[in-house]
Amino acid sequence: MRAVRFHEHGDNSVLQVDEVDRPEAAPDEVLVEVAAAGVNPVDTYFREGSYGPYGLPAIPGVDAAGEAVAVGDAVEGVAAGDAVFATGLSSTMPGGYAEYVAVPDDRLATLPEGADLVAAGGAGVAAVTAWRALIQHANLRPAETVLIHGGSGGVGHAAVQVAAATGARVLATAAPVTAAADGDGVDVILDHRLDEYLGFDAEVAGHGARVVGIGENRPEIGFPASAAARGKDLNLQLMSMFNTPSLADALADLGSLWDDDLGIEVADSYDLAEAAAAQRAVMTESFLGKLVIEP
Ligand SMILES: NC(=O)c1ccc[n+]([C@@H]2O[C@H](COP(=O)([O-])OP(=O)(O)OC[C@H]3O[C@@H](n4cnc5c(N)ncnc54)[C@H](OP(=O)(O)O)[C@@H]3O)[C@@H](O)[C@H]2O)c1
Repeated sequence: MRAVRFHEHGDNSVLQVDEVDRPEAAPDEVLVEVAAAGVNPVDTYFREGSYGPYGLPAIPGVDAAGEAVAVGDAVEGVAAGDAVFATGLSSTMPGGYAEYVAVPDDRLATLPEGADLVAAGGAGVAAVTAWRALIQHANLRPAETVLIHGGSGGVGHAAVQVAAATGARVLATAAPVTAAADGDGVDVILDHRLDEYLGFDAEVAGHGARVVGIGENRPEIGFPASAAARGKDLNLQLMSMFNTPSLADALADLGSLWDDDLGIEVADSYDLAEAAAAQRAVMTESFLGKLVIEP
C-alpha cells in the first residue's frame, strides 16, 4: 500500500510517499481502509521531533476514518463494513496518512451508516479535544455561557457545536481578538493561545470561571496575565487530548452526535503526495474547519 512516511525529523520536505506492506489486524485491532485522515498541528510537532512519534521511519496522522475491512477476534462492537473513526494514532503506532491503518479498539468508534467518511477523517483530535475540554474538564452546563477562542479552527468549530449540543450559550472569537465584553462574565473559556489571551480571559470571565488551556503561541513567554486571573479565582486547567482516559468512549459519545449535532467542515483535501503542502497549510493558512488527506 502507499503511505506517507518520514525517515528523519525535520521540515515539510522530510515527508515522502513510500510503498509499504499493508498492515494486518492484531486480535485487538480493526483494519481500516482510510477514506481520509485529518491534518492537525500535532502532526507537524511529531514530524519535527518536538515529541513522539513511535519510531522512525514513521507514518504520520493522529486521525483517520474509513471502512472497517478486517476485525480482530477480540474486538467487540465493530464488524467488517462498519463506518469507523479513530484518533490517538501515530504516537505509539503508525498513523492515518496511508491507504490502510490498523487501529487498536481502544481508540476507535463506529459512525452511523452513510456518515461522510471524509469529514469524519477530520473529526478525531478536533472533536475529542473539544469534548474533553468542555465536558470532562469544564463540566459545562446548559444554562452557562462559554467562550471559545479560534472558533473557526479545527478544535474551535467542533467546540462550538459540542457546546451548543449541551444547550449552553456559545460565544466565539476569531483572530485577532481585540475587544472585551460587558455583562456578568462567561463561565467557561476554551483557550488555544494562553500566552496571548489569559489577560483577555480574566477580563471577560465571571468570578470562579473555568478556563481550559489547550495550547499557546509562544510557550517561552509563559502566562504574564496570571495576576489578573488570580483576582477572579479563575480555575485554569491545562490538558492534552492524548491523556483522555478512554478515547473510544469519547469517540462513541461524539459518534452519537454525528450529523444532527456535530459535523466537520472540510476546508480542503489533499492526496498523499501533497502531505507536505497540507502540513504547511495547517500551520500557516486561515481556513474554516479541517484540512484532510484522502489517500
Ligand atoms: N492540548 C491539546 O490536546 C490540543 C489538541 C488539539 C489542538 N491543540 C492546539 O490548539 C491549537 C489549535 O488547534 P487546531 O487544530 O484547532 O488548529 P487550526 O485548525 O489551525 O485552528 C487555529 C485557529 O486559531 C486561530 N488563530 C490564529 N491566530 C490567532 C490569534 N493570534 N489569536 C486567536 N486565534 C488565532 C485561527 O484563526 P484564523 O484562521 O483566522 O487565523 C483558527 O481559528 C494548536 O496550537 C494545537 O496545537 C491542542
